[in-house]
Amino acid sequence: MIRSKLIAGNWKMNKDIHETVTLVNEIKERVKSLETSPAEASVDIVICPPFISLVVAAGLIKGTQIKLAAQNMYYQNDGAYTGETSARMLKAVGCEYVILGHSERRQYFEETNELINLKIKQALSNKLTPIICVGETLEERVSGVTDQIITTQVKGVLSGLTMQEIEKIVIAYEPVWAIGTGKTATTDQANQVHKLIRKLVSQLYSWAIAEKLIIQYGGSVNAQNAFELLSQSDIDGALVGGACLKSDSFTSIIGSAIEAMKK
Ligand code: PGA
Repeated sequence: MIRSKLIAGNWKMNKDIHETVTLVNEIKERVKSLETSPAEASVDIVICPPFISLVVAAGLIKGTQIKLAAQNMYYQNDGAYTGETSARMLKAVGCEYVILGHSERRQYFEETNELINLKIKQALSNKLTPIICVGETLEERVSGVTDQIITTQVKGVLSGLTMQEIEKIVIAYEPVWAIGTGKTATTDQANQVHKLIRKLVSQLYSWAIAEKLIIQYGGSVNAQNAFELLSQSDIDGALVGGACLKSDSFTSIIGSAIEAMKK
């Protein structure tokens, strides 16, 4: 079956409001000339600027094929949670996606699978598509426990999701040791974990659902390695950090997804 490819740019804590305007306008201009529906399925483009730039970015991408995501959210919809932002608020400014459980959130903000699970449920009830990140650390890979770690994370974050809900999620496999380090998983290493994730979802739900699931790869994806990664059978997109901060490398990765789709 042909799945769409999803290319998302995770800006992390980069770009102020002025730089946001410049980068979004550049991406818009470059994306115009791309044919993003080369096959039966399409290449979907998502940008994830910092919270404070979301409203402005939403205005700039109106009427284009670029979609908006937030990088995080809280699991309650309203209330006395100083400094937090809810799914309902993200939806109201035009977000369609939200990244949840990124390894930097797990590492620096102590997010657990349980908390991420609550966030996923709240995102889904507000009709936001969660891009759910999982991935092993270098230590875990070296000690040969990658599969166990991924299994625990996938089961933990998906716990209690219904058949209908599971159809509306995206999973991003991001080996922690490959994030921002310039080290990428080999296409084979990545594809194997993607297959494992698909198998887990088929066991927890059904093969029909697992077959449709979009599983992105993330971790030092750039204009040079994107095509090979995106050509793998089970890699359905990329969650891009560093290389999404420049419009030329980000659109080049989108171009690689289009080429990979034609294969
Ligand atoms: P990177 O980040 O592309 O800079 O490695 C990816 C991510 O953390 O989503």
